[in-house]
Amino acid sequence: MNCSRLHGDMEDERLSEMAQNMEGSRILSIAGSVRKMIAEGKEVAPFTVGDFSPLHFEVPQKFVELAHQALDEGQTNYPPAAGLAELRTALAEWMKQRYELDVGAEGIIVGSGARPVLYASFRLFLEPGDGFAYGVPAWNNHYYVHLNDSEGIPLVGNAESRFLPTAAQLEKEIHRIRVLILNSPLNPTGTCFSAEELGAICDVILHENAERRNDGQKPVMLIYDQVYATMTAPGVEHVHPVQLRQEMFDYTVTLDAISKSLTGTGLRLGWMAIPPSLAAPVVALIGHMGAWPARPIQAAVAGLFEDHDGLDAYFSDLDERIHVRMEILKRRLSEMRPLVDFVEPQGGIYLSTRFNLFDKIGAKTNEEIRLWLLNEVGIAVVPFQAFGLEEESGWFRISVGAVGCDDIEAAMDRLEAALKH
Ligand SMILES: Cc1ncc(COP(=O)(O)O)c(C=O)c1O
Repeated sequence: MNCSRLHGDMEDERLSEMAQNMEGSRILSIAGSVRKMIAEGKEVAPFTVGDFSPLHFEVPQKFVELAHQALDEGQTNYPPAAGLAELRTALAEWMKQRYELDVGAEGIIVGSGARPVLYASFRLFLEPGDGFAYGVPAWNNHYYVHLNDSEGIPLVGNAESRFLPTAAQLEKEIHRIRVLILNSPLNPTGTCFSAEELGAICDVILHENAERRNDGQKPVMLIYDQVYATMTAPGVEHVHPVQLRQEMFDYTVTLDAISKSLTGTGLRLGWMAIPPSLAAPVVALIGHMGAWPARPIQAAVAGLFEDHDGLDAYFSDLDERIHVRMEILKRRLSEMRPLVDFVEPQGGIYLSTRFNLFDKIGAKTNEEIRLWLLNEVGIAVVPFQAFGLEEESGWFRISVGAVGCDDIEAAMDRLEAALKH
């Protein structure tokens, strides 16, 4: 049930080794089959993709107006390789104010979504064979190990740690690590680091880097992916490494995007915040790939991020809409315990849900449970195997980005009825 090779077992000599071993996204393949079922008229709740249905979640109206305006003004030529100056300034100011991270406009580089800047951040630091550590489960890191020809160092989480990697796990591997990627709020689990947990991780990195400096070795670099940072549950505060430990500034690359925060996954604008002295090769790489966001999109995001109060109002409203959905899920799933369980959601649009149905339906694998939920109940979910967690323990990701409250209630009615049999 792991991600499959795109080219099957047939090796094609025209391809590079990297291309021959390229894996397709398991999540997108599940989402594709769900879309087909819905198009055929089947009743299926699409809890699968980390996307937002525009039917339920709209981008800010002001964004639409500003993008139209930029097009009307004829902003159709190449943008500067690092992004429009006003956009970089607006993002730098916003990050300084919100996360106490001050890289200045020079330290902000935009790309067409978080992915190009994510890829660029790996290429900045990783040599083939370098240790690349990442939490499991997590989104897409196992693919990036392959793309960078690195040595993957998975830090496998469990329900007790809310599926987040811990400082204790990191400490055991730290000598082998060149790059560590962390994501909070975490896709697929909807859980977030506390200040204490993230602070302890930073301490392990800082201690190791002090030793490496003495030995003349390259430091551990932290890539901090916070694309869901503005989406937190009531009472939960997103924390940033530099906010907790100022010394982390030199070792931290932060990734962000409007894909999730403005529910604009198709608009394609993300950015990296990096110590300015490291920015030049990123700008060149984004330029070589041509991975810029479209100029009118950049202009609109600049206008939006200059208005902090307007943004905050949008984020609050979005949080509330996610919260309402999560509350329905939590209430309904709680009533079905112990066959079903979940980890308290803290941020993003995901709920870690355990369908412990092995005995109930005579299943041996998560894949059998997934197919039963899909075909017998009309609930489409993604098993944690798609996020690198190989165990058959019944954990799945539920995403609320493409469903309304009525869809959730109806799906829970079907599940409750199916479990009563
Ligand atoms: C944790 C995380 N980082 C990065 C991305 C990629 O974002 P983008 O669509 O802006 O490339 C995603 C998308 O699902 C994500 O979940």
